Amino acid sequence: MGRIFKVSRSANNMLEEAARLLVKSRFAIAFTGAGISAESGVPTFRGFNGLWKKHRPEELATPEAFEKDPHLVWSFYKWRMDLIRKAKPNPAHYALAELEGIGILKAVVTQNVDDLHREAGSRNVVELHGNIFRVRCTSCSYKENLKESGRLEAFLAERDLPKCPRCGSLLRPDVVWFGEPLPRKALEEAFKLAETADLVLVIGTSGVVYPAAYVPQIVKEHGGKVIEVNTERSGITPIADVFIRGRAGEVMEGLMEKVRVMLNGGGGFSDRLFRGRGWGD
Ligand code: APR
Ligand code: ZN
Repeated sequence: MGRIFKVSRSANNMLEEAARLLVKSRFAIAFTGAGISAESGVPTFRGFNGLWKKHRPEELATPEAFEKDPHLVWSFYKWRMDLIRKAKPNPAHYALAELEGIGILKAVVTQNVDDLHREAGSRNVVELHGNIFRVRCTSCSYKENLKESGRLEAFLAERDLPKCPRCGSLLRPDVVWFGEPLPRKALEEAFKLAETADLVLVIGTSGVVYPAAYVPQIVKEHGGKVIEVNTERSGITPIADVFIRGRAGEVMEGLMEKVRVMLNGGGGFSDRLFRGRGWGD
């Protein structure tokens, strides 16, 4: 039995409404940002103690910065890789994996590079900004997932700049830096999902970085519903049909309890809702 999540009446109504919309949805997706991983100990970018509050992104997360000082950029990314590899998914990540498992959520479109959605068991994850555990060559097409290849530990301990085992050129983190285009396949997939979706669950993003932030807007423009979970209002809040102010892990734990009750026929839901979802047919 999860922790009792104390909420006000209005927050409880919001949770109820969000659960109702989720259970009724035909094609729901999630759109996540750094805030969903905050309770896992991964720093956000613009929130309190955010990375960009302490570091200058133009010195650490641009192709020009890498050109100018690859040692500095690599020490920053190795610090983040070391921090993130020790982080564990939190109840918000697990809730999305559970929603996918029961067929309500079709995909997670994420701006995060921390791999925590996969760690939590989500399968259909679209990474718009890359993955911090992947490296790629600056010259040839060489790419490597250091977690899958088992080289992460040795890679982090390495003092010299990482070189491509195929052509000897410099390796760089396989993430999207400011001023760089997003991976085309991932962006096309994300926009296609947004055009198809009738609901998007937006969790922990400031919604100010484009083109990623178009995803919830496209769902809205196509008549879909927007549910937002954030500790504060964001760039997405003006288009949210339901805005739940709170920490993602706590809110999603409360939301899942309501969804489970509704799926088990509680909350006045007739089985009409479940027809066509392969339950109880
Ligand atoms: N639960 C829910 N929301 C939270 C929590 C929490 N525990 N903690 C912080 N937040 C919210 C903040 O209020 C903020 O709106 O998460 C959001 C984090 O915003 P950003 O730090 O701007 O992160 P994000 O939106 O993911 O940034 C987008 O910018 O720096 C680039 O490439 C980087 O993918 C990143 C992109
Ligand atoms: Zn190479």
